[in-house]
Amino acid sequence: MKTIIITGGAGFIGSHVVRLFVNKYPDYRIVNLDALTYAGNLANLSDIENAPNYMFVRGDITDAAFLTDLFAQYQPDGVIHLAAESHVDRSITDPMSFVMTNVVGTVNLLNAAKACWQANAGGFEGKRFYHVSTDEVYGSLHNDNEFFTEETAYDPQSPYSASKAASDHFVRAYGNTYKLPVVLSNCSNNYGPNHFPEKLIPLMIHNIQTNKPLPVYGKGENVRDWLYVVDHARAIDVIFHNGRLGETYNIGGFNEWKNIDLVHLLCRIMDQKLGRPEGTSAQLITYVTDRAGHDLRYAIDAHKIMNELGWQPSLQFEEGLAKTVDWFLANQEWLNNVTSGAYQGYYEGMYANR
Ligand code: NAD
Ligand code: TYD
Repeated sequence: MKTIIITGGAGFIGSHVVRLFVNKYPDYRIVNLDALTYAGNLANLSDIENAPNYMFVRGDITDAAFLTDLFAQYQPDGVIHLAAESHVDRSITDPMSFVMTNVVGTVNLLNAAKACWQANAGGFEGKRFYHVSTDEVYGSLHNDNEFFTEETAYDPQSPYSASKAASDHFVRAYGNTYKLPVVLSNCSNNYGPNHFPEKLIPLMIHNIQTNKPLPVYGKGENVRDWLYVVDHARAIDVIFHNGRLGETYNIGGFNEWKNIDLVHLLCRIMDQKLGRPEGTSAQLITYVTDRAGHDLRYAIDAHKIMNELGWQPSLQFEEGLAKTVDWFLANQEWLNNVTSGAYQGYYEGMYANR
């Protein structure tokens, strides 16, 4: 039986990766390592929390001694590293927590994996450290015909992307210097179930539903390239198993949207789903002060993963967005628990019942 440590498994993307691996690989033991910060919510995994091949460990990747013990105890064959501070706006007000988790935490994890694997007879043979990153490390595009490829030079512009860029560099440096078996991916913006309602799409869905203003930064002309979160999880599965060591794979669905167009589309979908006359929700759109240093456009060239590993997104955007809206409307309790803060008691509740 293989043991895989997935960090950040209680978060948005991590929860989809954990679910996919637990269900698809019954012969793997999946250890979900998560500190349960504000972004971690174990309710995201309530459907698989009792699976025999799944376990949850609460722990902080900034704690090097804790990681050493954890790796000694579980002797993982692989690591899929998603734990991070992930919200750009928070990185503007509190950059240091991004340095701690995204940079120091990643280096701690690299050290723990390296020391654990080096102490075994087989060394690095058959082992794999997979670092999950973002397209935001490449900076901001300004010409319509430009895309981020795996060769695009790093040019991070926000404290979040700077911290992710630093972590990517450390992962590659460990691959180069110590021959640690690493693989990386850089993905575009995700959306879907379990998305924390501080990010654009779930925030807008929540505000439309509750008739609150829809805050569009600046003129709403910034462009993001959106991918359904389950398609990202499928890409992570393919890269973890078949990606070439030392390589980087860009992940995206060739799906660019101006923020304002996306918000209008969401308003139309929500009007339909809520039985409101067309145009009702769009009246809530409110232009607000722009984000400091707001990146203009992200767009991924995903040909490498498509051609080399045969991955393709499975959902068209309109379909994925409608599915996402349906999920939020059907999971009102999840949203209420997140907005009220009650979700933070799920961990204690879960263990109190055992
Ligand atoms: P998220 O904020 O929803 O979840 C992050 C998880 O990490 C949470 O469960 C949190 O509790 C955990 N965590 C935070 N600090 C920790 C620490 N010090 N120790 C242990 N656990 C800790 O993030 P997400 O949107 O799911 O992103 C996951 C990863 O994917 C991140 O590395 C992010 O940079 C990357 N990524 C995200 C997107 C996106 O659109 N959200 C796109 C590309 C790449
Ligand atoms: P976000 O979901 O924070 O992702 P990222 O900044 O990592 O791309 O934001 C997506 C886009 O939406 C980004 O251009 C900022 C913009 N935005 C708004 O206009 N209003 C909002 O309330 C939020 C949260 C984001």
